[in-house]
Amino acid sequence: MLTVFRLVSLAAIAVFLVDGKIATPASKGQPNEVVDVDTTGATTDTDSIVSTASQVDQKAGANTDAPPDLPPPVVSLTALDGDLVNTTVQDVTASSSNGRRSISLAKRLTAGYEQVFAGTGTGPNDRDGSIEGTAYLTYTVVDNSTYSVDKCLEFCDRVDGCVFVNLYYEFNNFLLDFVFSEKSNLKCAAYADVHTAAEKTNRGGQQLEEPPAGLTYIQQSSGYAAKSLVDPDTPEGYELVFGPTNGANNAPGYMGFAFLDRYDVQACADLCNSRGADSQGGGCQYFNIWRAVVNGNPTTYTCSMYYLVADESTAVNTGQGDLKVTQSRGYARKNLLPDGGFEGYNDCNDFCFTSGYENWKGLGAGIQDATIFHYVVYSHTGHGVGLLGSADANDDLPGTLTPSNPLQTEAGKTYSIQFFLNSDFSGPDLEKNATVEVRVSGTTLDTISPGFSHWTFHQYTFTAQGNDVLEFHGGSAPAWLFIDDVNVFQA
Ligand SMILES: *[C@@H]1O[C@H](CO)[C@@H](O)[C@H](O)[C@H]1NC(C)=O
Ligand SMILES: *[C@@H]1O[C@H](CO)[C@@H](O)[C@H](O)[C@H]1NC(C)=O
Ligand SMILES: *[C@@H]1O[C@H](CO)[C@@H](O)[C@H](O)[C@H]1NC(C)=O
Repeated sequence: MLTVFRLVSLAAIAVFLVDGKIATPASKGQPNEVVDVDTTGATTDTDSIVSTASQVDQKAGANTDAPPDLPPPVVSLTALDGDLVNTTVQDVTASSSNGRRSISLAKRLTAGYEQVFAGTGTGPNDRDGSIEGTAYLTYTVVDNSTYSVDKCLEFCDRVDGCVFVNLYYEFNNFLLDFVFSEKSNLKCAAYADVHTAAEKTNRGGQQLEEPPAGLTYIQQSSGYAAKSLVDPDTPEGYELVFGPTNGANNAPGYMGFAFLDRYDVQACADLCNSRGADSQGGGCQYFNIWRAVVNGNPTTYTCSMYYLVADESTAVNTGQGDLKVTQSRGYARKNLLPDGGFEGYNDCNDFCFTSGYENWKGLGAGIQDATIFHYVVYSHTGHGVGLLGSADANDDLPGTLTPSNPLQTEAGKTYSIQFFLNSDFSGPDLEKNATVEVRVSGTTLDTISPGFSHWTFHQYTFTAQGNDVLEFHGGSAPAWLFIDDVNVFQA
């Protein structure tokens, strides 16, 4: 054990000293130890999504015992990473979705509604079924002195997220007949997705009133859908990358998936924002939301998350077996830093460094205390990387890396700073005191003292003052620190 340890530390010093001189970053010295980083990770696990979709049951309608006019429930998760669950998005994301408007499949209000299917009649022997389908929201009862289609559509206009209603009579329901004040058996059920007559699977058959009253039954079940669905609003802090198309992403940097009980873009954004970071790839930066249609019926709403931004070129998974992908959209998180990866520094093809360029500045009281390198070997991804500590070991003073322009933050909003840090260049002994401060507008969010450390992900949240200045301050040659892939997102 002792022998191994001695060999390792001797090797570290050997790497560091070339002909008795320090092989610094400025002289293209090689890091003490190069550890491979897997920054592409897994690709979308479509098999798991498809097999989970075959297990979930998100079909619902207006229960016989529910009172009318309940507020629609909050958005729920029915599966998380292949396990069936029953929990709200708010519970999973803690408080991040509080106060945010849900952004569902949206209707164009002026376009009105069109009939999707008609009822089967009101004759004594006519029997029909009501819809059991996904994205059920709530129901009301409307005046049953006539078949009040317009009243039902007005209800849909009022219910947030409603794009479809199912209007039908339900007979022999004690509550409708004798308890609820409306005294009407004409039910109008609202959904956040469009359904077809194939989903008229609730045919009644419950004994809810004392015999001789018969079993419950349904008559004249018709369906109306919004004539025109429009793109949902884009969640704050995101931009629409593509869609809607019939292809889901099959892309790298995959972080897992959740099934939602309705097509809710904001809920998916909240899940991405609160998703635990991948140790190699970082935080969630992109999501793909799509509707799974199985045998023609909407079945679930998939939210897949990624730490790499994907686009339409990988949105090639149109389905598998009976499952078809529809309404697929990709959204990327907006990075407030135009060049958080230092990739804009391109003064050479292989190796060069600078104390500043268009996007970043390196500041310090000594010589080259903060620099930007173009060198694949030093970087986390790509070829650009920032360095703290005098690049040629001219002094042991700390340096400051700061973006050339203030962040376009808005006062009062919460942001997340995410970045990777490496302090393994000089080996365990000389990196022992490696330290960096993360500062926003002069306030130190944290002082990180990682000692000898390979690439590690860090993140902090802060409340903006507006046009905030981000600074990384530290390093003391030879306790150098490399910084890469800095992102600032709205939290
Ligand atoms: C999920 O949980 C809620 C509240 O606990 C419950 O009312 C509902 O029936 C559950 N749904 C399913 C599908 O189990
Ligand atoms: C209207 O609904 C009430 C309550 O269910 C029922 O008693 C009545 O017979 C219904 N009227 C018509 C015309 O169906
Ligand atoms: C680390 O800091 C301590 C306390 O300032 C100092 O005594 C020690 O020499 C430093 N170690 C290195 C390797 O610079």
